[in-house]
Amino acid sequence: MSPREPGTSGREPSLPRATAAELVRRAFVASRATRSDAADFAWVETILTPAEHALWRRQSPFDRDHVVQVARRVERRLAATGLENDPRWIGAALMHDVGKARAGLTIFERVLAAAAGRIVRLDTARRWATARGLKGRIGAYLTHGEVGARMIRDAGGRAEIAAWAEAHQNPRATARLGIPAEVVEALIESDVA
Ligand SMILES: [Fe+2]
Ligand SMILES: [Fe+2]
Repeated sequence: MSPREPGTSGREPSLPRATAAELVRRAFVASRATRSDAADFAWVETILTPAEHALWRRQSPFDRDHVVQVARRVERRLAATGLENDPRWIGAALMHDVGKARAGLTIFERVLAAAAGRIVRLDTARRWATARGLKGRIGAYLTHGEVGARMIRDAGGRAEIAAWAEAHQNPRATARLGIPAEVVEALIESDVA
C-alpha cells in the first residue's frame, strides 16, 4: 500500500467517527427497545450475500439495530436516483461496523474506548488490536473499519462493501473508493444513532 494512502500512514488519528457524546446518545438509544423488526431482518437477507449475512449476524443486537437504521436512511436518501437499487450500497451501510463484532465491547466500554481514542494514534491502536484482553478489544474497536474490512474480504464479501467498511472512519479516505459521490455522502450522513 502507498504510504500516502489516507488511513494507512500510521500518522492518522485513530478516533472512531463517533464522539463520546454520540456514544452516550447511542447508549440512551440502546436502552430503549430496538427499532428494527422482522421485516427489516428479512430485508437484510435480500441485500447481503449468505457469507456477508453470516458475519452480519455476529454483531450485537444494538449494532444490528444501528446498521439497519443507517441502511434505511441510505435507501431513503438514494430514492429516485436509481442508486438505491444497487445492493452494494445498502450492503455497505449494513456492514460498515461489522468489525465491532470482533471487539465485543459493551456500550460503556465503548465510551472508555472513545476517550482512549483521543490520546492514541492509529499505529498504537493497531498494536493494541493484537494484544489480549480489554486492550486488544479496545484496539479492535478503534480500528473496527479495517478489522471489519478484513473480515468481509476473508469471508468472500463484495469488494465495495469491504472498501466502505475500511474507509468509513476516515472520510478523507473516500475519494478513491470507486463508490459514487452521492452514495458516499448518503453513507456518511446516515451514520448517526
Ligand atoms: Fe464505525
Ligand atoms: Fe456506524
